[in-house]
Amino acid sequence: MRILRTKDYDAMSAAAARLIAAQITLKPNCVLGLATGSSPVGAYQNLIAWNKAGELDFSAVRSVNLDEYAGLNPDHDQSYAYFMRHNLFDHVNIDLANTNVPSGVSGDEECQRYDQLIQDFGGIDLQLLGLGVNGHIGFNEPDDHFSLGTHKVTLTESTRQANKRFFASLDEVPTHAYTMGVRDILQARRVVMVASGTNKAQAIKDAFFGPVTPQVPASILQYHKDFILVADEEALSLV
Ligand code: F6R
Repeated sequence: MRILRTKDYDAMSAAAARLIAAQITLKPNCVLGLATGSSPVGAYQNLIAWNKAGELDFSAVRSVNLDEYAGLNPDHDQSYAYFMRHNLFDHVNIDLANTNVPSGVSGDEECQRYDQLIQDFGGIDLQLLGLGVNGHIGFNEPDDHFSLGTHKVTLTESTRQANKRFFASLDEVPTHAYTMGVRDILQARRVVMVASGTNKAQAIKDAFFGPVTPQVPASILQYHKDFILVADEEALSLV
């Protein structure tokens, strides 16, 4: 595991974007595993700027997103499919047909279909992750075992509370989600996590400076052979 320590969110975003851009430059038809949430937005803005400047070409890039809320269709403005179009896909020359977000409305068969899709792509070249305040990755919540493939999860109260800022009220935050499993994430050839702010400091300490345990799902990344944590000073303030 390597840690890239940055001063603040903007520097974290630029550093993570450089890693993603390097991946696209080395392998123009790479498979990117993408995340939603506040953490990667700045990295996406850098990628958009470089694409608009003609320095980065997404035309052959393929993407698979980590997760989606159960029950939200892709046009719902809080769905992760909508988030990705709004924050990245609509602003770069990616072919939308090459982008994939798990369906939140296709039932449980979606899990098998999504794992097969990742397999048919030959796996993920670079997986971008955020970190939940409870140590989750994707929506793999603290549990007594690590998950394998894509599956449906019940969101914890802490995750629903953390995400209610995007909804009108807590009642509107979905109770379930579909997420890639820990095996899907670990099989990515490179994993890059972005984390910023003091509210992530305890999760970073628990995940990367404590024992590997399914109670802190991100801790399994300690075993990944090419894992890069890009975190700012506040997020690293407890370590
Ligand atoms: C999003 C995802 C989540 C977030 C995490 C952190 O696709 O899978 O694991 O990365 O909840 O969210 P933010 O970045 O909003 O703090």
